[in-house]
Amino acid sequence: MNPSPIIAVANQKGGVGKTTTAVNLAACLAEKQQRVLLIDLDPQANATSGLGIAKRAGASVYRALLDGSRLAELVIPTAVERLDLIPSEVDLAGAEIDVARAERYLHRFHEAVAPLRAEGRYDFIFVDCPPSLGILTMNALTAANAILIPIQCEYYALEGLSVIRRIIGQLRDSGANPALAIEGIVMTMYDLRTNLSQQVVQEVIQHFGDQVYATMIPRSVRLSEAPSYGQAIIGYDPHGTGAAAYRQLAREFLKRRRALDQPVPALAAGTAGVSAPPAESAAVPPTIPPPVEPAPVGNRNSTTEVAEDAKEGTEAGFVDTDLHGSQMKMA
Ligand SMILES: Nc1ncnc2c1ncn2[C@@H]1O[C@H](COP(=O)(O)OP(=O)(O)O)[C@@H](O)[C@H]1O
Ligand SMILES: [Mg+2]
Repeated sequence: MNPSPIIAVANQKGGVGKTTTAVNLAACLAEKQQRVLLIDLDPQANATSGLGIAKRAGASVYRALLDGSRLAELVIPTAVERLDLIPSEVDLAGAEIDVARAERYLHRFHEAVAPLRAEGRYDFIFVDCPPSLGILTMNALTAANAILIPIQCEYYALEGLSVIRRIIGQLRDSGANPALAIEGIVMTMYDLRTNLSQQVVQEVIQHFGDQVYATMIPRSVRLSEAPSYGQAIIGYDPHGTGAAAYRQLAREFLKRRRALDQPVPALAAGTAGVSAPPAESAAVPPTIPPPVEPAPVGNRNSTTEVAEDAKEGTEAGFVDTDLHGSQMKMA
């Protein structure tokens, strides 16, 4: 079996939609027959409680980060079929200090998760990171194949993005994680009523080009209510716009991933003095692409594209019953 790809959901800003995206993208992928593990690496444990799991001492990765004990024993099932969780707990806050004192402190999570990844039991392992670039986030980024960055559609959205880019560059160049790729950038809390959202999206596209997902997550009260009921959005409000948006994001995520799995021309591996990346990120360019002209935001979720997605989804063996709901109007 192929090793499971690890995707860190990270952005050092708080409240940008990391946890909401980690939980709901993971749940929507599970709904699409993918086997998914979500690891809650945030001491605030929002992903854990958001999936209706009670915090319990000793249940998190904390021990494993320090003594290398097995992560597999920490895995628990959730109410969503095919979605498993390694929960967080308050103790994890101590890891910032304790792990910093340990040897190879940046690699503790990488080493702890290695057997689970190698087993290949999951199609995807997501890591919900805390809102900082502290030891826990850096451990996640050192272990990850790719980083998925949620960005909130608000005025200061771009602030801090240069920091993330620099960190990614440093992790690659230092050899700590030479193959770290950008999985994608997801715009969250998109507000149809404001021009600001559109402006922010265009600006982010100018910087990150097609690394920005065409799917944007609208602001939705239901999305913010779901965690207090301990449910992913597909359980709490399966037919609303929030569920439709995350289902669409899951479709786009899989579509991009499948494109990466296509055979790559021979020159891709081992040319740039970087060690060959693992198979699942082989087609991701090691550099951030140059800025592109902003795409016309209003057209990005056109009917044709949704129809194509649905057709393609059916061909790939999963049927999406939410075609109409997923036609979000972004203009
Ligand atoms: N699309 C959305 N619409 C409305 N509220 C949202 C949306 N995404 C997230 N929220 C809310 O915003 C707050 C921050 O989101 P969260 O996912 O916890 O961010 P982070 O993990 O980056 O700190 C939470 O209260 C969450 O419920
Ligand atoms: Mg969070």
